[in-house]
Amino acid sequence: MDGINGKVVALTGASSGIGRAVALDLAAQGAALVLAARRRERLEALVAEITAAGGRAIAIETDVRDRAAVGALVEAAIATYGRLDVMIANAGVGPISRLDKLREDDWEAMVDVNFKGVLHCVGAALPVFRSQGDGHFIATVSTAGLKVLPTMAVYAATKNAVRTLMEGLRQEAGPDLRVTEVSPGYVGTEFGDGITDPEVLSAVPEAMKSMALPPESVARAIRFAIAQPREVDIGSIVVRPTAQG
Ligand SMILES: NC(=O)c1ccc[n+]([C@@H]2O[C@H](COP(=O)([O-])OP(=O)(O)OC[C@H]3O[C@@H](n4cnc5c(N)ncnc54)[C@H](OP(=O)(O)O)[C@@H]3O)[C@@H](O)[C@H]2O)c1
Repeated sequence: MDGINGKVVALTGASSGIGRAVALDLAAQGAALVLAARRRERLEALVAEITAAGGRAIAIETDVRDRAAVGALVEAAIATYGRLDVMIANAGVGPISRLDKLREDDWEAMVDVNFKGVLHCVGAALPVFRSQGDGHFIATVSTAGLKVLPTMAVYAATKNAVRTLMEGLRQEAGPDLRVTEVSPGYVGTEFGDGITDPEVLSAVPEAMKSMALPPESVARAIRFAIAQPREVDIGSIVVRPTAQG
């Protein structure tokens, strides 16, 4: 199936920011959405908004750290819509800090959500894509992995681990699967709310506010990748504010 209309898309991190913008964008293009995050009320409000506008969406409360829950998300897509065309692993956290601060619980949280959460998405979607002979895997990574600034080491490492995973998946995928990584720069979302180090918290919001893109900018890039004909695999997209160094 080419284009977006009629495709079944599972999307993690749909309750806010980039994920929410992607959900609204793809629903408006005729995709059927399976929306995942932990905050059920946010997801239900988004489903109501999409269905009120004539779109199709269901909400599945999911913690991507829970492998079984991610499996259930994919099962819900099949049970509701009969197939899964696109899996977008977008959920992420960024409690960044300098390594000297030794905020090891934060390091672990980033590995668990940003890397292991994506692995769980691959593990759940890949067998379905294989049995269909078709599928598209998309992961939201970050420019933080392209230019590794102080405070960003662990966050960037998780994103670059996903970048490596995506290239490995692409190499193994063969002619039937498409694999896309999208690297946003600064985007105006709730992302900064998860920062736990007070020093970083006081510095980052200013930098972000001054140049952050609206999340719709990233949604348009993801729309572009999905909309390509089946034989066109958009491997990597970087979307950063023009002003970002
Ligand atoms: N904003 C930026 O500047 C920027 C730049 C580059 C890359 N990114 C990446 O873009 C992606 C989306 O972030 P955002 O900017 O849109 O931030 P956001 O507004 O904070 O959204 C993060 C999303 O991830 C979900 N999430 C977090 N932990 C989860 C878990 N354990 N299980 C399931 N869902 C979880 C959150 O939902 P719940 O809390 O409801 O679970 C939320 O929907 C992330 O991967 C982030 O690393 C962001």
